[in-house]
Amino acid sequence: MVRIESLTAAEARDTIDDLTLVLRDAVASGVSLGFVTPLDESTVCHYWQGVMAQIAAGSRILLVARTEDGALVGSAQLNLATAPNSRHRAEVQKVCVLRSVRNQGIGTQLMRAIEAATQAAGRSLLVLDTRKGGIAEGLYRKLGYIEGGVIPGYARTVDGTLVAEAFFYRTLA
Ligand SMILES: CC(C)(COP(=O)(O)OP(=O)(O)OC[C@H]1O[C@@H](n2cnc3c(N)ncnc32)[C@H](O)[C@@H]1OP(=O)(O)O)[C@@H](O)C(=O)NCCC(=O)NCCS
Repeated sequence: MVRIESLTAAEARDTIDDLTLVLRDAVASGVSLGFVTPLDESTVCHYWQGVMAQIAAGSRILLVARTEDGALVGSAQLNLATAPNSRHRAEVQKVCVLRSVRNQGIGTQLMRAIEAATQAAGRSLLVLDTRKGGIAEGLYRKLGYIEGGVIPGYARTVDGTLVAEAFFYRTLA
């Protein structure tokens, strides 16, 4: 079991090295999470600055998973839609768990915490996309997410190849 925490922008700034470690581990495992390799420092730095600005603005929630001794082993984000017609909706992004501790239920715990955060934010519709046939598809299906469709050639893998992306949703009570 891990404990899940929601970070403020200041806490995220203080945790940036550990967050980057988890992000880089996922990218090194071949999951793009929006990035291609080589992943240089300035790209990562610019990315986290954007995340912190959105947390401060209240449009993004950043959750981290910590072991009992405080080590950061996973993270997940929730992007709260801001358009006037979309404020019932939020997008799950960048769910990742260190390879060394996968398949122990941490991804599931992060997703359940994301759902609780979605409800606490007054949102009822969760959406996400993931590589078709990728490692995370089973997790989302198991947790009750419904596949809305697949778009061929939607995103690039870490090495730049275009691949299909599956779009999922889940309506929360
Ligand atoms: C996807 C990810 C977050 C899952 O984290 P985790 O801590 O291993 O997840 P859990 O232990 O809670 O596993 C839950 C389910 O995920 C699926 N899953 C986990 N590892 C899997 C694997 N290697 N292959 C296929 N399905 C897998 C299974 O359905 C599993 O349920 P089960 O144990 O009952 O079979 C993790 O593999 C990861 O960080 N992957 C790289 C980043 C990524 O792909 N993120 C998603 C981007 S959209």
